[in-house]
Amino acid sequence: MSHPHAERPRQTVAIVGLGSIGGVIAGMLRAADRHDVTACVRTPVDRLTVERPGDVVQTPLRAITDPLQATPVDWVLLCTKVHDVPHAAPWLTRLCTPNTRVAVLQNGIGHVERLTPLVGGATIVPTIVYYNSERLAPDRVRFRPADHQEFAVRDDADGRAFAELLDGTAMRLLVSEDFLTLTWKKLLLNVIANPITALAMERMTVLRRDDVQALCLETLREAVAVGRAEGARLRDDDAAQALATILTYPAEAGTSMYFDRLAGRPLEIEALTGAVVAAGRKHDIPMPVNNTMFTLLRAVHDAHVAAGR
Ligand SMILES: NC(=O)c1ccc[n+]([C@@H]2O[C@H](COP(=O)([O-])OP(=O)(O)OC[C@H]3O[C@@H](n4cnc5c(N)ncnc54)[C@H](OP(=O)(O)O)[C@@H]3O)[C@@H](O)[C@H]2O)c1
Repeated sequence: MSHPHAERPRQTVAIVGLGSIGGVIAGMLRAADRHDVTACVRTPVDRLTVERPGDVVQTPLRAITDPLQATPVDWVLLCTKVHDVPHAAPWLTRLCTPNTRVAVLQNGIGHVERLTPLVGGATIVPTIVYYNSERLAPDRVRFRPADHQEFAVRDDADGRAFAELLDGTAMRLLVSEDFLTLTWKKLLLNVIANPITALAMERMTVLRRDDVQALCLETLREAVAVGRAEGARLRDDDAAQALATILTYPAEAGTSMYFDRLAGRPLEIEALTGAVVAAGRKHDIPMPVNNTMFTLLRAVHDAHVAAGR
């Protein structure tokens, strides 16, 4: 049954990782002020500014910097990069009980398998994040809404609970019975936009080139074959469709992998191109283009790790 906002109990929400994605969702939840929001961060902040088309949201924000300060919550929104999950484990240990739901606001696949050992019996709620965002400072992010909706969730009790959590914010959600296919369709966007912007060190503008679009289509055709083998209902024209979708993002938008390359940070390659390459190997599907990109990205990633950044 649907209740007016005022009748629904306030929930306690911890945002782990106040970067591009976490900063936007923290700002939207604080602006709606229906829940008690705490950011779990490494750099202290007490305010948050979200720049969005047409206006700027400014809000005070409670933030804690030590997992020992954390207490169990109703919801954790996990917004780190996938490779930072092991570093975020002390937060999860303190925040989670079997009554907690952990919404995963990360790209990639296999979130339930990856997180189950870390969340003390909490329920894991995978989400697909469609919005684009950019962290401008520890307390400032730029939000670019997606074309249709900002999130997709599974059509089950936990997915619908996440949709209800965001009620009253500007976020639009799709509740889907075929979450697996949507997950792969999102991964299709990631295996072109993230690697190519990071390797070229250019924002989405690089995807406007004809030769780069031809490369995108080769990359996508391989990934579509793998996604199908994994059970996603993908058609041949989903490759062209994914490219068309990427081209609806503004040319000046970056990707999280592009920003990590610029900053010399580790790259989220295992969770994106790496996940597709691993699944392709499992099904014996040749993936020369994705393998090439994976090798180049791993070389960049290893150099960043060796430099200790
Ligand atoms: N950016 C986008 O447009 C976009 C769109 C869709 C999906 N995604 C996905 O969303 C996920 C998050 O990406 P993002 O772009 O938001 O990354 P991001 O800007 O790098 O933010 C990640 C945040 O996690 C924090 N973090 C890492 N380890 C931590 C720890 N142990 N304790 C507390 N905080 C910790 C980092 O803190 P520090 O500042 O201290 O390093 C950083 O603020 C990724 O899976 C990405 O692929 C991103």
